[in-house]
Amino acid sequence: MKTYKIAAIPADGIGPEVIDAGTRVLSALAGHLGGMSFDVTTFDWGSDYYKTHGSMMPEDALEQLKPFDAIYFGAVGAPDVPDHITLWGLRLPICQGFDQYANVRPTRIMAGVKAPLRDVGVGDLDWVIVRENSEGEYSGNGGRTHKGLPEEVATEVSIFTRVGVTRIMRYAFSLAQSRPRKLLTVVTKSNAQRYGMVMWDEIAAEVALEFPDVTWDKMLVDAMTVRMTLNPQSLDTIVATNLHADILSDLAGALAGSLGVAPTANIDPERRFPSMFEPIHGSAFDITGKGIANPVATFWTAAQMLEHIGEPAAAEHLMSAVDRVCEAGILTPDVGGTATTDEVTKAVIEAVKGRNALT
Ligand code: IPM
Ligand code: MG
Repeated sequence: MKTYKIAAIPADGIGPEVIDAGTRVLSALAGHLGGMSFDVTTFDWGSDYYKTHGSMMPEDALEQLKPFDAIYFGAVGAPDVPDHITLWGLRLPICQGFDQYANVRPTRIMAGVKAPLRDVGVGDLDWVIVRENSEGEYSGNGGRTHKGLPEEVATEVSIFTRVGVTRIMRYAFSLAQSRPRKLLTVVTKSNAQRYGMVMWDEIAAEVALEFPDVTWDKMLVDAMTVRMTLNPQSLDTIVATNLHADILSDLAGALAGSLGVAPTANIDPERRFPSMFEPIHGSAFDITGKGIANPVATFWTAAQMLEHIGEPAAAEHLMSAVDRVCEAGILTPDVGGTATTDEVTKAVIEAVKGRNALT
């Protein structure tokens, strides 16, 4: 019996609702497949913790998380705490402290989910966006001087390092190589941003030589939004900077029908630290406590977690259960259904056990 130690950080808003759904499904999956179990430890870090302790998580948080096989993260953000505090107090210190430099964001139009584009259907928009997750526009470098005065200056410096760009490029090429189409699109803005982005282009060309079987092309980020919308079938794997991929992944989620189903994995490919898995959607205070949060992104990211810890068959079993439930129309309101979080979760558990999702 293999036991995986999972650190759950449900955090804010609908985070606890979807992580609860996710851990129920994981335990049903382990029970059904046998040979594995999940030992889940839940941490109460987040905005409520901040209101009591003055910080989003304790000082030794990373030390506490280190022994785990993976981190299962809900959502962060509260209406009464500034967003930059919640973000820089919890999620980013974990991503950056554990050098989870590859942020992997798959999309696909799921059965039963209505997508807004003409001429695309179930299974289309099967993309993976690889987001550089450790530097670039999110490096945290900058400052403000003469605060509040007319001559105030603020800088927000993007940092691109050869090491950082090379490693994300290798990750993206290798991911593209592992997918049937072996197709990678490298996104930059190297016409206007003539230093960091030009280095991206150069490093992409260098790394491409190591992957002769991968077909690759380059897009400027603005033109990329057009291609994603008007020629979506021409894309497969996509690599972009921290901010560009942040924006493109929202577009991808919208084109696939809903951000409610989009997952994300923050991966340390060298496996020195635990990687972190989360739904892309935020804390969604407008629906918190209503029991209607879409748990599909949290299930999908659990499948990413299973793949990462070396259980690809379990990941596939879980995703096929999720697909069957979506296909049966058991969907939350954000994707046009009337089911509650609990109903979707129960249906997925039944499907995991091989029972009909409809009964
Ligand atoms: C995401 C989110 C975050 C980001 C926000 C919440 C800061 O939009 O994961 O895409 O920009 O990284
Ligand atoms: Mg985003």
